[in-house]
Amino acid sequence: MTTQGSVKVLIVEDEVHARQGLAELVSDWGYRTETAQDGLEGFEKVIAWSPQIVITDLKMPRMDGIELLMKLADMGESLAVIVLTAQGSVELAVDAMKLGAYDFLPKPVDATRLKTILTNAVRQRETEVELEVTRRQLRQTGVLGSLVGQSKRMREIFGLIERIAGSNVSVLITGESGTGKELVARTLHEMSDRKRRPFVAINCAAIPETLMESEIFGHEKGAFTGAMERRAGCFELAEGGTLLLDELGEMPIGTQAKLLRVLEERKLRRLGGTAEITVDVRVLAATNRNPEEAVAAGQLRADLLYRLNVFHIQIPPLRERPEDIPLMVAAMLEEMNAKHGRRVAGVATSVQKLLTAYEWPGNARELRNAMERAVILAPDGGVIEEAHLPHELTRADVAAASLPTCDGVQLSVGMTVAEAERRLILKTLESAGGNKTRAAQMLAVSLKTLHNKLKEYGQTDRRME
Ligand SMILES: Nc1ncnc2c1ncn2[C@@H]1O[C@H](COP(=O)(O)OP(=O)(O)OP(=O)(O)O)[C@@H](O)[C@H]1O
Ligand SMILES: [Mg+2]
Repeated sequence: MTTQGSVKVLIVEDEVHARQGLAELVSDWGYRTETAQDGLEGFEKVIAWSPQIVITDLKMPRMDGIELLMKLADMGESLAVIVLTAQGSVELAVDAMKLGAYDFLPKPVDATRLKTILTNAVRQRETEVELEVTRRQLRQTGVLGSLVGQSKRMREIFGLIERIAGSNVSVLITGESGTGKELVARTLHEMSDRKRRPFVAINCAAIPETLMESEIFGHEKGAFTGAMERRAGCFELAEGGTLLLDELGEMPIGTQAKLLRVLEERKLRRLGGTAEITVDVRVLAATNRNPEEAVAAGQLRADLLYRLNVFHIQIPPLRERPEDIPLMVAAMLEEMNAKHGRRVAGVATSVQKLLTAYEWPGNARELRNAMERAVILAPDGGVIEEAHLPHELTRADVAAASLPTCDGVQLSVGMTVAEAERRLILKTLESAGGNKTRAAQMLAVSLKTLHNKLKEYGQTDRRME
């Protein structure tokens, strides 16, 4: 454990009273402090004194806070930078977070809030060591927490998650239904120093509009008809942890305005309340809609999107990354075996092909459901066969995309030989203009065989030669 006494905090601020005030405050909390009056002096002191934490103003002569951040990022130093922002400079705060700042705080500085951020930053440094272990595992196995994937795009996403999990930045997560948006949010939480605190997800699409604000911000007793008790909202429930605003595009516009204020001031009032409550919550948002389109349609505030979209993780649908499927299948097999106390040994080769060729309109969720069902149906010690898969997967026309059509005959991986034969025979008959003798010749089978096959397919002898 690091003790505060050994943690060095550098304060970079051009305004002398603010600088001294901050230095006093921070050393009162037991940190060692040094000060610098602009970015240039700040940078020199970082090199000479090696602080673990830097608190910096943004607007300063000679070298401003953004430049300082860039120089520190270039050096690859793993120090936590807390940026102080003036009223109405959200853009700068967002820029600073993108450059790797740990957190930002509006001026005038709220002492309680600063104290929390400092404590978190110290904790985060300790988490870094654990993270390094996770990183190593990831490089070897293509697994990040519960997220599995080895495609280029998933690896890029894993890299981004690793890089930003530790900071307090907001992240917008988009992707089709079932692609793993919530799982990505949980992984961001699990890989941060907030992991011992709650992860709270609120689904804006599932909550009636009239209750939304009370759910998010809480309410006091008597705030509205039916408010019999004081109730904490999601922000308070997630205190110290992470809040996922799921289906953000479904949040009423009025609520979005209030949310934006909480994100900027990090304080809220419960409905019907007067007291301001300071909140320390990392906010993530997810949506399966295109956020820019939601803005254009007037359903999402542009400024809220801007504030939440500091980083954007866009999860591609499963059909665009089939190379992830074998690894996901293996992980899900293991998971389902454990969940249901089964010992299914593996997946038949033909099934593996079917799983990879299928389009997965329901993405990872659909795959997981299919694997759960298959593990229950397959024999212990045996493998998953086609019969254990849901009907959609074994229907040949659905899997058709995987092979080109040849002379109008659609074939696909996973199709049975009998089905392929049926298609070929019917198509040949068609191209022979219904002439069975000719069709039989083309197929190099006897007329009798052709008749038998057609009978089998339920074809009557309407079209006689
Ligand atoms: N890369 C992955 N590796 C392993 N499992 C995954 C992966 N992605 C998603 N899953 C699993 O798929 C299921 C659906 O994921 P999740 O609920 O996160 O999707 P979602 O995008 O939030 O869906 P929705 O749009 O319906 O809210 C979960 O059971 C999750 O564990
Ligand atoms: Mg979800």
